[in-house]
Amino acid sequence: SYPIIFDTDPGVDDAQAIAIALRHPEIELLGLTTTYGNVDIDVATRNALLLSELAGRRIPVAQGAAGPLVKPRHPAPAHIHGANGLGNIALPEVQGQAEPISAAQFIVETVRARPNEVTLVAVGPLGNLAAALQLDPGIVEAVKRVVIMGGSIKEGGNVSPVAEANIFNDPHAASRVLTAGWPLTLVGLDATHRCVLSPADMDAIAAGQGELGAVLKGSYAFYREFYQQALGIDGCCPHDSCALAWLLRPELFTTARGHLSVVTEGDAAGQTLFAPEGRAFIDERWSRTPLVEACLGADGPAVVQWIVDTL
Ligand code: BDR
Ligand code: CA
Repeated sequence: SYPIIFDTDPGVDDAQAIAIALRHPEIELLGLTTTYGNVDIDVATRNALLLSELAGRRIPVAQGAAGPLVKPRHPAPAHIHGANGLGNIALPEVQGQAEPISAAQFIVETVRARPNEVTLVAVGPLGNLAAALQLDPGIVEAVKRVVIMGGSIKEGGNVSPVAEANIFNDPHAASRVLTAGWPLTLVGLDATHRCVLSPADMDAIAAGQGELGAVLKGSYAFYREFYQQALGIDGCCPHDSCALAWLLRPELFTTARGHLSVVTEGDAAGQTLFAPEGRAFIDERWSRTPLVEACLGADGPAVVQWIVDTL
């Protein structure tokens, strides 16, 4: 089985990924850690608690970053995920509470309790992982793997011509996390843009999920409007679910190993630069940064089918 901590800014596509993490029989969800991003931090934490309760589970939720490490915060994109992060649909009250420790502490304690077993799956801005690294740099050797939904190698960006949202929102945190030297896989737009979840797929998903299904379906309807207007497609990219799809079904993705760097300032802030392993550059710095694995593509229909089958 796959013991994971899921670091998230829920968010419509985050919500679907959380549902997968809660439901997949091979995933052991040790906790949800929350970050600002698609919504403010208190809303992110409320949504994480709510989604777990709607699935009939009480998963530990630890609250994390309220904003980026260095740069000023970019406003939450309310027209994409809704002001409440879940497409502005009416939501029931939350029963439970967040843990009394921060997301970063939760990550460190959980990883240290189970050395070399825990995979960190991060699908929002990367402040919590950066804070955990600062708290305990030794976790680099103690995690099993880090899987990140973020970045773009050749696909171009979704916030700017070159930057993907999760990296763009906190490029300084992303830079620390992506170059920390732990075993890391980047599942970016090169993979997630190949996957389009249709309204019919969503109906199939919602049918089996009770109250949770109603929230997934209602929020999806709002997200769908955005995709129609912004990209002219009828369907949504299940970005964050793709990180879990890679973990469980890596054969559905094409990947390459290489050296990664994040642009932190200027017009290209948030861009991920990738130098394939073995390629020599005049600037030797490129061969010194740690190697990571990055997705360059995906079998989109098969990934979408995996999501539908899982839920
Ligand atoms: C990422 O940005 C967020 O809006 C989504 O939840 C996803 O994590 C896609 O670029
Ligand atoms: Ca997200």
